Amino acid sequence: MAFIKFHRSLSNSFQFTGEIKNVEFCTNQSQMIFITLHPDIDFYFNSISKNQLLLKLFMYPVSMLNSCINLLFFIDAALFYRPIFLSGYRKRKMDKIFTPFKLGHLTLNNRLVMAPMTRSRAEYDGTPADLAVEYYAQRAGMGLIIAEGTQPSDDGQGYLMTPGIYTDAHVAGWKQITSAVHNNGGHLFIQLMHTGRMNHPDNTPHHRQGVAPSAISPGVQMFTATGMQDIPVPRELTTEEIHNTVADFRYAARRAVEAGADGVEIHGANAYLIHQFLAPGANQRTDEYGGSIENRARFALEVAAAIAEEIGAEKTAIRLSPGSQIWGINEGEEGPALYRYLVAELNKLGLSYLHIMHMGNEELLGELRALWTQPLILNRPGKCRESIGDDIQSGLAELESYGQMALANPDFPGRVKTGGPLNSADPTTYYGGGVEGYTDYPEIK
Ligand SMILES: Cc1cc2nc3c(=O)[nH]c(=O)nc-3n(C[C@H](O)[C@H](O)[C@H](O)COP(=O)(O)O)c2cc1C
Repeated sequence: MAFIKFHRSLSNSFQFTGEIKNVEFCTNQSQMIFITLHPDIDFYFNSISKNQLLLKLFMYPVSMLNSCINLLFFIDAALFYRPIFLSGYRKRKMDKIFTPFKLGHLTLNNRLVMAPMTRSRAEYDGTPADLAVEYYAQRAGMGLIIAEGTQPSDDGQGYLMTPGIYTDAHVAGWKQITSAVHNNGGHLFIQLMHTGRMNHPDNTPHHRQGVAPSAISPGVQMFTATGMQDIPVPRELTTEEIHNTVADFRYAARRAVEAGADGVEIHGANAYLIHQFLAPGANQRTDEYGGSIENRARFALEVAAAIAEEIGAEKTAIRLSPGSQIWGINEGEEGPALYRYLVAELNKLGLSYLHIMHMGNEELLGELRALWTQPLILNRPGKCRESIGDDIQSGLAELESYGQMALANPDFPGRVKTGGPLNSADPTTYYGGGVEGYTDYPEIK
């Protein structure tokens, strides 16, 4: 059994003795330093400044995050020890990341997933642009690509130049993408994104008013061809139109599979239509889709059940962002209870995976993990590279997703494996445009 002692040395640093196995340094602003005393016991420093480091001691079996002994110390010179430690913890993480993973009917080459990212480079009619074939093919080394938010219907579009997956032209465009990804050994799910009230009529070919659970504007602005504009008040969907929208999702999923996608991810996160139904601030309906937790979760569950029935549960996945407050979304005090109910109900469908965009409530995350028996993909926004693989290593998630790092590094898995430097993503080229910031990020030769 490992042990640890702290005492001040002559150099005014703390020293610790014990069976130190590995050390991992995380060099972003949070300055984390992981030290492994024993294969099952890790602890880390989390500095609040270079001179004042907060030391946390976590002792836990690798598969359990919750039962930690948590000690806090302030020390001033832990970096002193940086050169003398080994990095076996990193090796264990890499071994796990790069061991093929079985996700339903697929075998992924590794556990790194490309998070869905809207790039607003499709044709005006929603057909993916030719350049998207190269963009996704370049990133086929990811264990799984979750392609950008894609509208399941005319009404599902809210942004400029986003792709769709409900016409023959859309299917033909996506076929080229899925073939290129498969030829390069990768796998791809298409994210079905109905933006609901996150819509500006100037952005769509039909210029229709956005639709939503209730006629409540998100109260924010949106980018349009003529610059930022206020998002108008949406039109409230009738109960019959809600049923039609579920049918639109079902049809789009079928077309996605026809286009060669390995599955679809339902976008239930980030303030779009499904999230709008979940949040009482955006949903004030009095029919069976509003009011109680069960009613607000109904739309999400109906969409998931319809798609699973249409294309198979092993090809159906969903993304949620519990606690997100963007774009006028307010989940209210019942937020955690809502997600506990929703995830427990979704779990009964046996879907391919749940993708959580984590907003910081660790306790809720642990609860949802416990309720979910299928693979979990975890996305921690803004994570630093040294902590890649930590959630897999701890057993919290089976897969980890990365957005901006995958966007800027077509050969991201290789760089993770070898410890190679990462290109930084350029936010000015995220949306719209052509090659620049899309297919021209360099690979390590
Ligand atoms: C340019 C860009 C576009 C995005 N578009 C989507 C999207 O279409 N659907 C979605 O669920 N999330 C979207 N996101 C969120 C990402 O999937 C991811 O959760 C976020 O970037 C945080 O992860 P990261 O720090 O690894 O980038 C987008 C993020 C970026 C940077």
